Amino acid sequence: MALQNHLSTAIASSSSAFLAPSNLGSSRASNASVPAKKTGAVRCVAVPHEEKTTYKTKVSRNANMAKLQAGYLFPEIARRKATHLQKYPDAKVISLGIGDTTEPIPDVITSGMAKRSYALSTLEGYSGYGAEQGEKPLRAAIASTFYRDLGIGEEDIFVSDGAKCDISRLQVAFGSHVTMAVQDPSYPAYVDSSVIMGQTGLFQEDIGKYAKIEYMKCTPENGFFPDLSTVARTDIIFFCSPNNPTGSAATREQLKRLVKFAKDNGSIIVYDSAYALYVSDDNPRSIFEIPGAKEVALETSSFSKYAGFTGVRLGWTVVPKELLFSDGFPVAKDFSRIVCTCFNGASNIAQAGGLACLSPEGLSAMREVIGFYKENTEIIMDTFSSLGFKVYGGKNAPYVWVHFPGRSSWDVFSEILEKTHVVTTPGSGFGPGGEGFVRVSAFGHRDNILEACRRFKQLYK
Ligand SMILES: Cc1ncc(COP(=O)(O)O)c(C=O)c1O
Repeated sequence: MALQNHLSTAIASSSSAFLAPSNLGSSRASNASVPAKKTGAVRCVAVPHEEKTTYKTKVSRNANMAKLQAGYLFPEIARRKATHLQKYPDAKVISLGIGDTTEPIPDVITSGMAKRSYALSTLEGYSGYGAEQGEKPLRAAIASTFYRDLGIGEEDIFVSDGAKCDISRLQVAFGSHVTMAVQDPSYPAYVDSSVIMGQTGLFQEDIGKYAKIEYMKCTPENGFFPDLSTVARTDIIFFCSPNNPTGSAATREQLKRLVKFAKDNGSIIVYDSAYALYVSDDNPRSIFEIPGAKEVALETSSFSKYAGFTGVRLGWTVVPKELLFSDGFPVAKDFSRIVCTCFNGASNIAQAGGLACLSPEGLSAMREVIGFYKENTEIIMDTFSSLGFKVYGGKNAPYVWVHFPGRSSWDVFSEILEKTHVVTTPGSGFGPGGEGFVRVSAFGHRDNILEACRRFKQLYK
């Protein structure tokens, strides 16, 4: 409480430019049809006490699950936030940690979902199980919106309940015998799904890596693109651009090298383009902009960060018919089989939302939401730059990657949480290459972003 008082006084007396009323967010606020959630104070639900029992089944634990480290990064952060709130119950915690969207879904999109939802109550409008691969009009709209002139057709598109779910389904399709490479640092779902599938060895504490995963180091020194001459051949290469967590987007030249590398090695690239619409320069938004990519790459993407669909759940994966396994069998056919077995298709209401997203009005509404988060990004970038930190990312992604040379990411995370009540994400949670960095997410209400930046200025002035 004392700290909280100190903080408010300090902030009130700060000469930060952010104290000036900003009109950056006002247009969005007035356009929003749904009142913004009042989430100034984020409260965590306490983890329920596990009931103690002495009874044990005779089922042995999946040994691959036992290989996983302490827990998925974000639940671990949530645990630390909950502990922090126990210590400071009155703290106004601001969460810029997990990359979850905060702004209301534009009503041109929710209207599409509402209409479909009401139609389900009519005889004519009712539909049950749909095509597992997704509804044809949506697949066609995805193909023409994101892959026009790239030789990708609706038949190559698999609509899903999100990119993360598709990453795991792809892993099931590949099986446990494949080897894989990831950018280091990278979005944790690639490594964890690989561990769960049994593609890896044990976690090696001394180097912070799993055995049998090729970690492709991405640092400011190499422009966050791996030195492929030092990367060992693997079957699968996970590659995310714009990247979570570093926020950097690969250039056309770099992606040409990646595609050539995959072709020379007979590897498959799983290209994650979940943030493609955040690209604001000439860098590619799809791997299929690179000639020859269809023979070596598939691409997964999502409406989550464009339209605030993190809760609605809708994404897609493109598996080109040209992509073949070593025996000539199409990868798409196996993926289709997995989708039919493990998934019954995305919610029809969510798919109506996806179609609304891709209407001319929906596209411009999504661009506005993305523009809003990009303004947040600029505010965060400017704050840390003005404090003398080296900051990366931001330009083409909703993440700012802040360097704290020589320090442990978790120590910096704890320092920021303890002294400013702001939740960030420790870079080392994304792989050993993230050590010494902290990721600050630009997903947040404008007031919270401004308030967090005031607190950062107070802490590091
Ligand atoms: C790189 C990347 N891929 C995939 C996802 C998950 O997307 P979805 O919500 O569609 O499952 C995220 C979410 O944060 C992400 O950062």
